[in-house]
Amino acid sequence: MAQKTCILAYSGGLDTSVVIKWLQEHYDVAVIATVFDVGQDKTEDMTFIEKKALDIGAYGAQVIDLREEFANNYISKAIKANGLYENKYPLVSALSRPLMVKHLVDQAHARGADFIAHGCTGKGNDQVRFDVACAALDPSLQVLAPVREWNLLTRADEIAYASEHGIPIPVTQERPYSVDDNLFGRTIECGILEDPWVTPPEDIFGLTNDPAGPDAPDTPQEVTLTFEAGLPIALDGEQMDLLTLINALTDIGGLHGCGRIDMIENRLVGLKSHEIYEVPAAVALLTAHKALEDICLDRDTAHFKLDLEHKWAELVYNGLWYSPLKAALDSFIDATQKTMDGEVRLQYFKGNITVCGRRSPYALYDFKLATYDEGDSFNRDAAKGFIEIHGLPLRTWSSLHSSGL
Ligand code: ARG
Repeated sequence: MAQKTCILAYSGGLDTSVVIKWLQEHYDVAVIATVFDVGQDKTEDMTFIEKKALDIGAYGAQVIDLREEFANNYISKAIKANGLYENKYPLVSALSRPLMVKHLVDQAHARGADFIAHGCTGKGNDQVRFDVACAALDPSLQVLAPVREWNLLTRADEIAYASEHGIPIPVTQERPYSVDDNLFGRTIECGILEDPWVTPPEDIFGLTNDPAGPDAPDTPQEVTLTFEAGLPIALDGEQMDLLTLINALTDIGGLHGCGRIDMIENRLVGLKSHEIYEVPAAVALLTAHKALEDICLDRDTAHFKLDLEHKWAELVYNGLWYSPLKAALDSFIDATQKTMDGEVRLQYFKGNITVCGRRSPYALYDFKLATYDEGDSFNRDAAKGFIEIHGLPLRTWSSLHSSGL
């Protein structure tokens, strides 16, 4: 019988390198190591990673550049949804996984593979995202998760396995953190961070200057973002595609030490974990987008959308990107974004991003209604009757219940 094929999401790290060999040994499959470029660490040489996979014994290796698709079809939706899990985490990893799975599945179809594989552990959210997204896109494909299966192996066992099988082990002392990054930001966990009382050491940060250190400029910087239909299209008046704009905002925010988030989060698998995020572009974009919505959305839509945003972020976090509810929420959100055109000015200074101005042709903010000065058109007389009716149920309740509240 011909050997079966497995498409592996390959990062070039020790885990997924060991996975290549392990899959051959335990499943006798031809492994196609697939490196996804989602804008991770710019110092990583993709062709070097591809060659490493072949040296280890992968049947094939390839690099797929997903940066534009990631920006335009995944991050764009998170911007419109103001997507923040537990009101804090801009879903960096949770957004990239469904995109990776889409391409793993496409590759499996193109190459007639029976399996896809990933290097996630059995304790995190990412395993759920890979497995469930694959189930949604092609339930007939089997997902192999070797690191989850070999969970009982210690780090030392894994290194021993690697050296026995000629898999290069990083010579530099491996950093004791687990890092995932892409163009929307960087996530850091493990090591000393497992004690939530300990101040995160400065050496964990890779995108942002210390906001209190000498590298964060002493003068504030202002930028203007232009939005069209809920998405940013220009920075300081210069039109640019979303990918370019995100990269530019990462650099500006990084310089000023902005976008660091320290969070205890509730994982889907039931445990709490301590996570540090560096998300300068995400914080700028969500802050500006929200500011534009504040001025443009009518009150009922704004309040209703807030509830749905919470649900949207939870679905994405929980690996349900490809689900009917998430698709329905996207339709609602898109309907709210048609008139989200305008400009927002942001100020960067010492770790903070502050909105300092917003305007839109669709602004519902009405100076004549809002002003306390000359030109006020608000009908104060109408307020009296409105309050009378608004308070009527309470007035009725209180006159019956003498005990009060
Ligand atoms: N806690 C975040 C999430 O669940 C970050 C996960 C990062 N993944 C990783 N393999 N280090 O989305």
